[in-house]
Amino acid sequence: SNIDIEKVSSYEELSKKAANILVELLREKPAANLGLATGSTPVGMYEQLIKAYQEGNVSFQDTHTYNLDEYIGLERSDPNSYHYFMKKTLFDHIDINPDHTHIPSGIAEDLEEECVSYERLIKANGGIDIQILGLGLNGHIGFNEPGTDFASRTHIVKLAESTRTANARFFSKKEDVPKQAITMGIQSIMEAKKIVLLAFGKKKMDPLQRLMKGVVHPDFPASILRLHPNITIIYGE
Ligand code: GLP
Repeated sequence: SNIDIEKVSSYEELSKKAANILVELLREKPAANLGLATGSTPVGMYEQLIKAYQEGNVSFQDTHTYNLDEYIGLERSDPNSYHYFMKKTLFDHIDINPDHTHIPSGIAEDLEEECVSYERLIKANGGIDIQILGLGLNGHIGFNEPGTDFASRTHIVKLAESTRTANARFFSKKEDVPKQAITMGIQSIMEAKKIVLLAFGKKKMDPLQRLMKGVVHPDFPASILRLHPNITIIYGE
């Protein structure tokens, strides 16, 4: 099968495996384009990348990063924005050039134009070499909620209530969770040369089953990943 599936027995193991995949890519191709994700799942991987950098095993000087998504309406300095998250979780701790870190802007005056130019930027720089993905409980990837067209590119989305509830843990109250986001589309994600999907915890095992064995249908966006020619899934509970 085109799916390389790796079961781990701890979150640390998952984080190390994922970080190793990126470190190996960067050794071969220091100017690689990394597709990065937010959420809790990749945090351990980012810690491992920082460690690898501190130990002199990897440099990000020539690396470019592209994040999947951002909330609409949050300033970059807002602790709940994905800009802030990436800065604090990774970028501030490695030797990456801040000008090489790309995240869709959720505060652009013309959001439609922002979608088009984000998509253009990824293409112009040669496309994403490895895209890291988490898995939403309803099968969302990035912020592509159930019902999203498989042919979608970077676009503005209305967040599912269940996603707002799941993400409310980061905000002081649920009403503070933005109602909209800007996200790379499913087609944009599928164009990455390689995908590494991370899923950890009991709650993720049902959605993972649906990804692996369910019908490939927009009702469960992650199901499309089965058709990607080069995908690694690292999971555990
Ligand atoms: C969030 C993010 C996704 C992420 C997913 C799972 O809403 N937009 O990119 O993969 O939900 O998050 P977590 O890893 O915290 O379970």
